[in-house]
Amino acid sequence: MTLFEKLRCLLTFGQGVALPLPEIPTDSTPLPLFKQWFEDANKSGILLPEAVSVSTCGQNGQPSSRMVLLKNFDEQGFVFFTNYGSRKSQELNENSKVALLFHWNVLQRQIRIEGSVEKVSAQESADYFHSRDRGSQIGAWASKQSQKLTEDDQLKKRMAIFSEKYATGEVPHPEFWGGWRVKPTYIEFWQGRSNRLHDRVCFEKQNNEWVNFKLHP
Ligand SMILES: Cc1cc2nc3c(=O)[nH]c(=O)nc-3n(C[C@H](O)[C@H](O)[C@H](O)COP(=O)(O)O)c2cc1C
Repeated sequence: MTLFEKLRCLLTFGQGVALPLPEIPTDSTPLPLFKQWFEDANKSGILLPEAVSVSTCGQNGQPSSRMVLLKNFDEQGFVFFTNYGSRKSQELNENSKVALLFHWNVLQRQIRIEGSVEKVSAQESADYFHSRDRGSQIGAWASKQSQKLTEDDQLKKRMAIFSEKYATGEVPHPEFWGGWRVKPTYIEFWQGRSNRLHDRVCFEKQNNEWVNFKLHP
């Protein structure tokens, strides 16, 4: 983190306590508030404000969590990209229910999202894949994400193989790599306040409409 970014973090610390949540009109949708908070996080100097925890739970009932990067969001949902053969993807294939968690500590904010996933279109995955730097594209081919390494330098060797294979021209988009879209049914905005009397505003999808309510902290 640069000195400038550190200073920016220090200056924004505590901002959450000073800023109560605005009153939310009963007929509103959660997206404008998410957009506002995401913009605030981007401006705050937090490193990787788009980092989000994804929790999945396969057939065996054991939840598992890991961080990913949010790459897109709109009324349709929240998109991240990964290997479709990874543990998270296997668990999502078994059980499409998922939970996301953002925590922006200097803003004293948390957003919880629950819903279910669908794969984004192959075109959307290919478009994003080709927007990545060449090293990451080749890395996606080299990594058998979540599988056991059978020898220490296996990844290095696979990187060398695919670097040679795709030395020139466009790196093709692997079919085993793409996006998941989380379609939300519940979104909760948490704003830290003094005396632990935090604000919690929740949106729940009922009969295809968003209803909102507040919770005790
Ligand atoms: C800040 C951060 C961002 C990450 N972003 C991604 C991502 O966008 N996609 C991804 O597949 N893995 C990402 N990872 C790695 C995952 O956390 C995880 O190690 C990997 O996806 C394998 O998880 P799985 O075995 O549960 O499928 C990220 C890790 C960190 C710490």
